[in-house]
Amino acid sequence: MSLIYRRKANQPSLTHVIHDYYGEIIPFAKRIDQKIVALPLLLLKTIEWSIYRWYKTPIRRFYGVKGNELIYMITRRCCDKCSKCGIWKIPEPDNQHLPVSEFINCLNQIHENLYQVTLTGGEPLLYLEDVLLIGEECKKLNVPMLVVTNGVLLTKRFLQAYAKLEHILVISVDTINTAKWVNFRGRNHFELVMGNIMLARSSLGNKLRIQSVLAKETQDDIPLVKNFCDEHSIPHIIQPYMDFGGCWHSTTSKAKDTGVACAARKNICIYPNGDVVKCFDHHRIPLAKEPLGNIKKEDIITILCKRRSTEVSKIMKTCNYPCKQLSCNIPIDICNS
Ligand SMILES: C[S@@+](CC[C@H](N)C(=O)[O-])C[C@H]1O[C@@H](n2cnc3c(N)ncnc32)[C@H](O)[C@@H]1O
Ligand code: SF4
Ligand code: SF4
Repeated sequence: MSLIYRRKANQPSLTHVIHDYYGEIIPFAKRIDQKIVALPLLLLKTIEWSIYRWYKTPIRRFYGVKGNELIYMITRRCCDKCSKCGIWKIPEPDNQHLPVSEFINCLNQIHENLYQVTLTGGEPLLYLEDVLLIGEECKKLNVPMLVVTNGVLLTKRFLQAYAKLEHILVISVDTINTAKWVNFRGRNHFELVMGNIMLARSSLGNKLRIQSVLAKETQDDIPLVKNFCDEHSIPHIIQPYMDFGGCWHSTTSKAKDTGVACAARKNICIYPNGDVVKCFDHHRIPLAKEPLGNIKKEDIITILCKRRSTEVSKIMKTCNYPCKQLSCNIPIDICNS
């Protein structure tokens, strides 16, 4: 790691500073609709940029603002074998699975910075009791939580307990055609999941979402999933297909350039073994290939305040891979509009 620290890119030159400034300002300027307020907003943004640029304490980036999302891949294990996804193919061994107390400890240290905790996987409900424990802690700390699940392991007891916590549940559905379901998910539990969705709808009300992956394989199915969601008043989210080690095909050959910086900079991502990265596609960024640290060995604040963490965040401002379009990497204001 020390070798990486000595990279020349970490010592700011004039071109580096200019690049950094434009990397921040141009995407910001593109998002200003009303030209009349453009000048004062750009001035304020420049002041903010200067503070972050010249005030060296990286802790400023992480404290006092509810601007970060903590995304925990609680496990790589899964009860499905989806053809779109390769995560289930490399489940973590028992000794590589973080005890829930370590995650809760991390959550307690940075909760003031978080606008949301997201639990994903693998299948998070393989650790149903841990999910509820984390949900309770988030409730105590007043941080909203969102769990993404394949819907197979939902139970009445879980839904009743989860409903009390008032967090969001996202169930993944890419088709409502029984024959395709088996093909897509590698398991025949269409009836079980559809029944669980109805149960979740009645227990969670407007806290339930359905998410579909848009790929060549699903483009004809998604309108039908959307109709199903509309019939049952369930908000529907579409996620573009990315390479997660699966074998589906994207509907577009190129990444759409939205002109907006990748918002993954706001994310703090934790792997099942406790490794910390800034986005789950970090392997695309040479400086971010290695995890920034591990919450079993160091506390999260130390990890986030490392110089490499700050440098990786800076590089992410101008990063432009297709993963930028994943729902967790879209700026919150766009997500909510
Ligand atoms: C990796 S899964 C983990 C949570 C849970 N097992 C599930 O399927 O909902 C998280 C989300 O990513 C979506 N997903 C899976 N493979 C994907 C891919 N190749 N591209 C984009 N999204 C994908 C899933 O549909 C799900 O909504
Ligand atoms: S998409 Fe979710 S349910 Fe499907 S294999 Fe991947 S982790 Fe499991
Ligand atoms: S574009 Fe992809 S690799 Fe780059 S910062 Fe965003 S999520 Fe990470």
